[in-house]
Amino acid sequence: MTTHSAAEFDKIAREYDESRGGTARAEGFAEQLAPLLDPDRVLLDVGIGTGIVAAELVRRGIPTVGVDLAPAMLSLARRRLGAAVAVADAARLPIRSASVAQTVSTWLLHVVPDRAAVFQEVARVLKPGGRYYVIPARGQRPTDEIGVVVNELEDLLDPQRSRQDGPEELAPTAESCGLSYLGPFGQRTKVFEESPEDMAQALSAGLFSGSWTGGAKAAEATESACAKLRALSDPGRPRKREVVDAVLVFERVRDV
Ligand SMILES: C[S@@+](CC[C@H](N)C(=O)[O-])C[C@H]1O[C@@H](n2cnc3c(N)ncnc32)[C@H](O)[C@@H]1O
Repeated sequence: MTTHSAAEFDKIAREYDESRGGTARAEGFAEQLAPLLDPDRVLLDVGIGTGIVAAELVRRGIPTVGVDLAPAMLSLARRRLGAAVAVADAARLPIRSASVAQTVSTWLLHVVPDRAAVFQEVARVLKPGGRYYVIPARGQRPTDEIGVVVNELEDLLDPQRSRQDGPEELAPTAESCGLSYLGPFGQRTKVFEESPEDMAQALSAGLFSGSWTGGAKAAEATESACAKLRALSDPGRPRKREVVDAVLVFERVRDV
């Protein structure tokens, strides 16, 4: 059964790659991940999306297969990776227990309704000692003037912080599912340019997954955030922005 977020990703599948930093983001993630991965073992990408990151991993010699719940996202992944992808729920993986040596998820755990169910499934399919590599979407939130408005919107729409996916939120859940948190690795600072107007347009176009639930209240909060962005000085001027990405590494404990 599809989830609300997967259905929304299907709607934006065509714009997804470009709206999320295009090939440059995928190359950056692959460069962070590849040194941590074993090129002699198949990697399972859970929530593979359009396959943009997986394709860069394959280019770097990592044999990769993947699953995603959104068929339109996955059809783009199929163009990149062929038959190595399948429609499946991260919380119900169609994979034999203890059969996978390494798994990865980039920008998945902030959109799943039950991340404990995902950790449980990843722990189930991993071999003892196998690893789960996670690049969070909201691990370190930028606090520049655009970031402040977006963070405020996120906090308003998600007071329970169920969409925050930094180590403080993920590690306790992972540990309770038999995945021990080894720490952040491969930290990388990405510098890019974006104007408040660019961000306002992305929010208005429904590209921000944080606004997908919450109905009229979320729509109102999103419009108010757009107004705040447009009220910043010279809103069309690109600002230099910075985000810091890290790979959070979890290991399946050997005696589960
Ligand atoms: C933000 S995108 C990230 C895609 C890809 N990992 C990347 O970095 O480009 C999140 C992806 O998770 C998928 N997704 C959401 N819930 C899922 C679930 N329960 N099982 C599998 N995939 C899911 C969505 O369909 C979407 O493709």
